[in-house]
Amino acid sequence: MNAVLSQNASAEPDAGNVRRAGADLAVLSLSKAFGGVHAVEDLSFHIRAGTIHSVIGPNGAGKTTLFNLITGLYQPDQGEVLLNGQSVQGMPPERLARLGMSRTFQNLQICMNMSAVENVMLGRHLHLKRNFLAALLRWPSLRRSERACREQARELLCFVGCEAYLEAEASAMPYGALKRLEIARALATEPGILLLDEPAAGLNSAETAALERLIQRVADQGVTVVLVEHDMKLVMAVSDQVLVLDYGRKLAEGTPQEVRHNPDVIAAYLGG
Ligand SMILES: Nc1ncnc2c1ncn2[C@@H]1O[C@H](COP(=O)(O)OP(=O)(O)OP(=O)(O)O)[C@@H](O)[C@H]1O
Ligand SMILES: [Mg+2]
Repeated sequence: MNAVLSQNASAEPDAGNVRRAGADLAVLSLSKAFGGVHAVEDLSFHIRAGTIHSVIGPNGAGKTTLFNLITGLYQPDQGEVLLNGQSVQGMPPERLARLGMSRTFQNLQICMNMSAVENVMLGRHLHLKRNFLAALLRWPSLRRSERACREQARELLCFVGCEAYLEAEASAMPYGALKRLEIARALATEPGILLLDEPAAGLNSAETAALERLIQRVADQGVTVVLVEHDMKLVMAVSDQVLVLDYGRKLAEGTPQEVRHNPDVIAAYLGG
């Protein structure tokens, strides 16, 4: 458990001064088609370690498909993805998790028949796939590691602002808290890069403001953040770089200021 996450269980823990090694991501000439639909087409970009990089674009532009390609859920028709300079072609999501990649989903993927803490613990177990037989043979150490895992889950829930739900069943939590729970679960694998697919969808403005601070605190620890989001206020506030997709292709890329004033973006996406 990262020392930063474990300190200060108040509503807004400080980022502290311990940093993780954020991961560097490169996407090279990536393409994926579904039938005649070119969901992602010849897309290349680079995300520097420790930065917040947003991916925006109209509905159907290919943002979620891009996440599914990066995280190993889909195999590309062409192109490749490099994590810290190494090709991760063909690797399944759990292997990518062990290499430090973690994500949330556009549609909540929470186990509603489990508690908030168990959901976060599950995130760690499922994705890091411990050797359970070895663990069983040394079961006192397994018990210790279970305790540590539970403690880490509680700390992560505090970190994301879910301290009111430490004893809660997921089914009893409001939607905004479930969105934060999903981020806590993604952080449970201690990722170097975190991909968030529309984390602000369905949140009110106060919740979105809290999310903005949370994303900033994650990045302050050195974790690379890739953010797919329709909330332009959030995107413009937190991003170091913004990539604009249109019909699976790169329309523009730059700082929030550059993208905001790009005539192609204004014409095609922001609507003037
Ligand atoms: N599994 C799939 N099978 C067939 N078509 C798909 C599949 N996944 C995505 N598509 C198509 O690919 C295109 C890109 O979809 P994608 O979900 O990546 O867009 P998006 O940018 O995430 O949109 P939104 O903002 O609505 O979430 C769309 O035309 C979509 O219908
Ligand atoms: Mg999507």
